[in-house]
Amino acid sequence: MNLLNSLNFSAGPGALPESVLLQAQQAIIEVPDVGLSILGISHRTDWFESVVAELENNIRTLLELADNYHILFLQGGTTQQFSMIPMTLLRGKTSPAEYLHTGYWSDKAITEAKREGPVREIWSGKSGGYRRLPADDELRFAPDAPYLHYISNETVEGLQFHRVLGRDDVPRVCDMSSDFLSQPCEANRFSLIYAHAQKNIGPAGVTVVLIRDELLQGTPTDLPGFLDYRNHVQAHSNYNTPPVFAIYVVLLITRWLLTEIGGLANMAAINRNKAELMYRLLDNSNDFYRGRVQPQDRSLMNVTFNLSCPEKENRFLAEAQAAGFSGLAGHRSTGGVRASLYNGLTLAAVEQLTGFMEDFQRRHHQ
Ligand SMILES: Cc1ncc(COP(=O)(O)O)c(C=O)c1O
Repeated sequence: MNLLNSLNFSAGPGALPESVLLQAQQAIIEVPDVGLSILGISHRTDWFESVVAELENNIRTLLELADNYHILFLQGGTTQQFSMIPMTLLRGKTSPAEYLHTGYWSDKAITEAKREGPVREIWSGKSGGYRRLPADDELRFAPDAPYLHYISNETVEGLQFHRVLGRDDVPRVCDMSSDFLSQPCEANRFSLIYAHAQKNIGPAGVTVVLIRDELLQGTPTDLPGFLDYRNHVQAHSNYNTPPVFAIYVVLLITRWLLTEIGGLANMAAINRNKAELMYRLLDNSNDFYRGRVQPQDRSLMNVTFNLSCPEKENRFLAEAQAAGFSGLAGHRSTGGVRASLYNGLTLAAVEQLTGFMEDFQRRHHQ
């Protein structure tokens, strides 16, 4: 793999495994057994139907997902789900949906939900600059909420819940865009999970939605066809022309997870090792590198930190770029540094980064 690809710490679209990139490259010229470029294969072929069926099956296997969930591959990104979910579950309701306001992306989700119906923010980290997540004793969940919504991993801030929230008698809805298939997630405890592909499982263009069948029973009947989950269920994610290439790459990732990695427990162990390397370095740096968030809420996916002043951060980013590390600048809303450690990024890449960071500290510790 070339240096830039192997040292891609981008927050998304992010690094993909080399073996998957090679298969994707091959498929652009010719998909094995089909004889056509993936960019020119109709979504109405038996081959594409088999891709969707295998992908559904792989996701079900990886997550040990029960049969009463539909698995959908949709367009419009996670942002479209921010609207589609309240359209489906909140329209016409009088009791508020409960949302956790834990970062940049939950802010967006809440704004969209409020267009559709009543929303209660049960906790907000906004005034504290989103540097921590709530503890259990700060949360009161109402029994009559149409659903509880939260984001398992706040990509911008680098905050991750390390537990499942909420009550078992209220549907849990979770945006898992930046940690989906990076670890086991007790998927059967959620009523709806959604995640775009471009972090851990593929390129941009497709969003995976897992939805429990019973959640669709009360769906409004006057939604635009494209925004009605039932149409996508009925059409097996082939309601209109789907992103064939993106879906195929997600299939390759699930095959890689199953056969090369050996399942999500193994993937989680690898991801934990990568994150531990990074956080150990921050903690042992005598405050040279300063983690943005409270230690118990640290994300295994997005490691966010600052240096003592913006000038030093700029220097760090410039030298890192020159040394071959890409995608390390923090989100435009927060600044600082963010190293994203998605599935496709290797432990060796993280070791190279920590080596660079130790060296940078030695040279710039004044
Ligand atoms: C957790 C989370 N939710 C939502 C989004 C928005 O996703 P999209 O660009 O697919 O709409 C992002 C983008 O990175 C994200 O990280």
